[in-house]
Amino acid sequence: MTALGKLFRTTTFKLTLVYLTVFALFAAFLLGYFALNTRRLIDEQITETVNAEITGLSEQYRIGGIRRLVVVIDARARRPGSSLYLVTTFNGDALAGNVTALAPGILDSPGWTETVYRRLDEPEGAKRPEHEALVRVFKLPGGFRLLVGRDLEERERLFRIVLIAGRWSVAIVLVLGLAGGLFVSRRVLRRVDAMTETTKTIMEGDLGERLPVAGTNDEIDRLAENLNQMLDRIESLMHGLKEVSDNIAHDLKTPLTRLRNRAEQALRTAADDDAYRNALEATIEESDALITTFNALLMIAQAESGQARENMKEFDAAEIAHDVGELYEPLADESGLALKVEAATPAPVKGNRELVSQALANLVDNAIKYAQPAADGTPAEILVSAVNSGDQVLLIVADHGPGIPEAERSRVIERFVRLEQSRSKPGSGLGLSLAAAVARLHGGELTLADNQPGLKTVIALPRGGPVQSVG
Ligand SMILES: Nc1ncnc2c1ncn2[C@@H]1O[C@H](COP(=O)(O)OP(=O)(O)OP(=O)(O)O)[C@@H](O)[C@H]1O
Ligand SMILES: [Mg+2]
Repeated sequence: MTALGKLFRTTTFKLTLVYLTVFALFAAFLLGYFALNTRRLIDEQITETVNAEITGLSEQYRIGGIRRLVVVIDARARRPGSSLYLVTTFNGDALAGNVTALAPGILDSPGWTETVYRRLDEPEGAKRPEHEALVRVFKLPGGFRLLVGRDLEERERLFRIVLIAGRWSVAIVLVLGLAGGLFVSRRVLRRVDAMTETTKTIMEGDLGERLPVAGTNDEIDRLAENLNQMLDRIESLMHGLKEVSDNIAHDLKTPLTRLRNRAEQALRTAADDDAYRNALEATIEESDALITTFNALLMIAQAESGQARENMKEFDAAEIAHDVGELYEPLADESGLALKVEAATPAPVKGNRELVSQALANLVDNAIKYAQPAADGTPAEILVSAVNSGDQVLLIVADHGPGIPEAERSRVIERFVRLEQSRSKPGSGLGLSLAAAVARLHGGELTLADNQPGLKTVIALPRGGPVQSVG
């Protein structure tokens, strides 16, 4: 498409055309109306003057007969700028007046007509001897005809002037409007073209590109700003997605390779049934760990997608604290740790009970895994509590282990991140990610704090149920 063709097809230009047509029609209508009214006004004035003169002249005729009329008309006809007069006998012989060369038959029909005429005092060979006039023919008693009229030159000239002015103004409106329309359309088109170019680059894969913003804060700018924000969001989502898939690929490859190598080695070197059995048992163990990791990943995805939001129910977080405590007590005992639960008052939460339980279990599991018993043999204490705090319910797990340095606290929440010191313990680095995702799903958050010594992890959830007074 040519540049001009593109310009003509813009919405701005089409709108300009519509406005132009409307304005031109309006201007033409207005001037036409003005011209016709002027004409009518002049006609009315002529009619009034002529009627008054005819009344006056018939009065003169009534008083003094044809003689007097002839004298009066003679006198009036000679005045400069006078009306047009003619008195004739019933068969058309002129008795007095200042006009001749009327259109034939005029005098036979009484009433108003427009006619050509020539003034008697005009030289016969004049350039434009014939003029137009609006005349009234009046029959006097006795068969005489009286004609009185006014020249129409003025009326026609005014009409012509208005018509010419009208044509010019419509032409000027069209030219200026068209030029303005082209100018505005070109500016808009340039900006839209720039946006189209950028969109092409983005579609070709450069998600970092942004639409140009002129800074005029108009509707195009607002659109560009919103689209840019959308692009920011898409870019960060894409980035997150890429990171997750990279992590998954990387972190699952190692255990799978290990699994494969162990099986291969067993095939090559195992001497008896026992060796095969051991190799198979190790394989099953490794597979279980893989399945656990997959389950954790799926649960995180479920929490993050917001799907789990559909079956949110009211439940008591204090109950969950007791349940999880009971579940993990044997494991804590085994590790030489004292697990204590403090959740005396009900803590109502509206949410997904299963996910919240799993999140809390992950925190307790960490505490048991990473907090060693004190060196003197007294069991280090792990405290699990559910408390009401303002409009929140806090599920807290506090231990006296090595804790997590402040600088690492935001990092360990990411998927597959494990601290160097924990490499000896089993795990895939997904426990805290799930807890954080579950907290976010409920509109709350997961925070890690210093327990001096040790780690204090808190899942803060918005409180559900009837509001209770907090003493
Ligand atoms: N209570 C804690 N004390 C000290 N370090 C901790 C504690 N909880 C978590 N960490 C550190 O944070 C890391 C991430 O914890 P997370 O629960 O996400 O993964 P994981 O326990 O290693 O594996 P998973 O929970 O998936 O079995 C852990 O590897 C550990 O280094
Ligand atoms: Mg864990």
